[in-house]
Amino acid sequence: MFGPIAAPVQTQRLLLEPLGAHHAEEMTQVLDDLRLHDFIGGAPLPLGELRARYQRLAAGPAPFHQEGWLNWIARRRRDAQAVGTVQATVTPGVDGLSASVAWVIGTHYQGFGFATEAAAAVTGWLRGHGVTALSASIHPANAASAAVARKLGLRPTGDLADGEIVWRDR
Ligand SMILES: CC(C)(COP(=O)(O)OP(=O)(O)OC[C@H]1O[C@@H](n2cnc3c(N)ncnc32)[C@H](O)[C@@H]1OP(=O)(O)O)[C@@H](O)C(=O)NCCC(=O)NCCS
Repeated sequence: MFGPIAAPVQTQRLLLEPLGAHHAEEMTQVLDDLRLHDFIGGAPLPLGELRARYQRLAAGPAPFHQEGWLNWIARRRRDAQAVGTVQATVTPGVDGLSASVAWVIGTHYQGFGFATEAAAAVTGWLRGHGVTALSASIHPANAASAAVARKLGLRPTGDLADGEIVWRDR
């Protein structure tokens, strides 16, 4: 695996757990809403496919790739309810590691600041583990995700990736 390996991270309201195949069952329910895919494409996966996907994500890319996949489940601490996921793809950067980050919060749990809280914790953790440059690719109409990125200190650049605006912290 290239770069740091995901470890548990705690915030005021959330516990971020490194994602594994065992999370698939509870996450199919959290993620079972077509609206979550308005700006990111795809569709909710049935349990078997989500479990296989989580297995692949947890295994990471083939060792010869200079790339690390870090994924966390965000769990609300007060009742252990899973609320979403945060993802970071780590690659070599100019003066350290670069990480591209993404976030999804289940529809029922949106609007409470969970994406911001989880993503801020993950980006802080990444910075403490050698990441010196952060980016996120966000659909131009995804105002909620743009608001999260802005609160993390990212700014939109003129770069586009697959029709999405690339946001960077520098
Ligand atoms: C993007 C997403 C993760 C945000 O989750 P969340 O937990 O509701 O986010 P937060 O509560 O931390 O912050 C949301 C911010 O967006 C704002 N917001 C929400 N809906 C909005 C809208 N339609 N237009 C403008 N701003 C909006 C909120 O006001 C808040 O900003 P504020 O704190 O400055 O008021 C969630 O909407 C989601 O999972 N969407 C589907 C998946 C997705 O698009 N992921 C992003 C991939 S780049």
